[in-house]
Amino acid sequence: MFKKVDHIGVAVSGLEEAIDFYTKMLGKPPEHIEEVADQKVRAAFFAVGETNLELLFPTSPESPIAKHLEKRGPGIHHICLEVRDIDARLAELKAKGVKLVDEVPRLGAHGKRIAFVHPKSTGGVLVELSEPVGDASHS
Ligand code: CO
Repeated sequence: MFKKVDHIGVAVSGLEEAIDFYTKMLGKPPEHIEEVADQKVRAAFFAVGETNLELLFPTSPESPIAKHLEKRGPGIHHICLEVRDIDARLAELKAKGVKLVDEVPRLGAHGKRIAFVHPKSTGGVLVELSEPVGDASHS
């Protein structure tokens, strides 16, 4: 059901600088850069082994990332777990009394269906669930 840590989301206060830094550190450029309209961010992905780093920079003051930067400064914003059948996972979590940010999946980077679990239920960690594209029927 829960397959792996798909990525770790990091809020950055300058996207170009952060991309330069991680390009130097990892020795390769990001595989993918995308504007995610729903979250009002630009996201840069670096594959690291089986998982990824997702650098997040707000494109609007209304972005949740802008609010995070304002309140807490740059740093880890969320961890993302890859799941099969996100609708079923959300229904299960809700039935278990887990507080969800999204009861219905939204559209994330790479066109994936994603949903956030509230940090109040997870010991202070914002957890993103993400379903691989084209995998909706599998569980
Ligand atoms: Co993410």
